[in-house]
Amino acid sequence: MIRIEKIQKRYGERTVLSSTSLVFAEGQTTALIGPSGCGKSTLLRLIAGLIVPDSGRIFLGSEELTPENGETQRRRIGYVIQDGGLFPHLSAYENVVLLAKFLQHPASWVEERVRELAELVQLPESALERFPRELSGGQRQRVGLMRALMLDPKIILLDEPLGALDPITRSELQTQLKAIFATLGKTVVLVTHDMGEAAYFAETILLMRDGHVIQQGSLADLLERPAEPYVREFIRAQRSPLPQL
Ligand SMILES: Nc1ncnc2c1ncn2[C@@H]1O[C@H](COP(=O)(O)OP(=O)(O)OP(=O)(O)O)[C@@H](O)[C@H]1O
Ligand SMILES: [Mg+2]
Repeated sequence: MIRIEKIQKRYGERTVLSSTSLVFAEGQTTALIGPSGCGKSTLLRLIAGLIVPDSGRIFLGSEELTPENGETQRRRIGYVIQDGGLFPHLSAYENVVLLAKFLQHPASWVEERVRELAELVQLPESALERFPRELSGGQRQRVGLMRALMLDPKIILLDEPLGALDPITRSELQTQLKAIFATLGKTVVLVTHDMGEAAYFAETILLMRDGHVIQQGSLADLLERPAEPYVREFIRAQRSPLPQL
């Protein structure tokens, strides 16, 4: 569903993504994990067509992503930006329905869909009338999720979508999202810092460091057949949530 061929991205002298080739299979969830600054968000932005690689090619299905078709391709993708990325001057509701309105979906369909999504992400309907600055961080993340799911895209890119949620909401939302991705056959790329979350969501885990992919495989692959000692080190550094009492 998503194929990346030898893409490179530099900012000035700095190589942020070194020649990277990857395939994300249709209907599968892949978790991107790795230390801060290793290039995870950059990789998502490239797939979303928001930035252009210095070299290499990206295919969504059979179509190559080009500056000309970026706009239409982007509509096939639901993208949850790391910090929510909501428009500050629009209410939560207006943020969620913006593209649907632009594409002239019927008002009754839009309203019904928003109600469905609010229930899914457990956002109180009163919160929808507020501006992003009047919402908590966790509420903003849920509005961002609603916006990304609104048009039921085939490809969903999630950049640390559940980071600001309390453990109970987070675990409930993990369960629901996983069920949605599985039943609707979504192709999902999810960035997380939590190996437990990565293993819960994803068939495939992709560990990155310094703009390189260190290993792509199942959790079992990473544990039992680490590509380099760093893989083991990274997994060991993930603490269990509570010390033994
Ligand atoms: N527009 C930009 N201009 C210059 N440097 C950038 C730009 N965007 C990202 N970078 C740099 O590229 C590197 C990778 O950034 P990226 O946002 O992809 O990291 P990340 O893996 O998502 O990190 P985090 O886990 O902290 O979100 C970082 O060193 C960052 O400072
Ligand atoms: Mg990031």
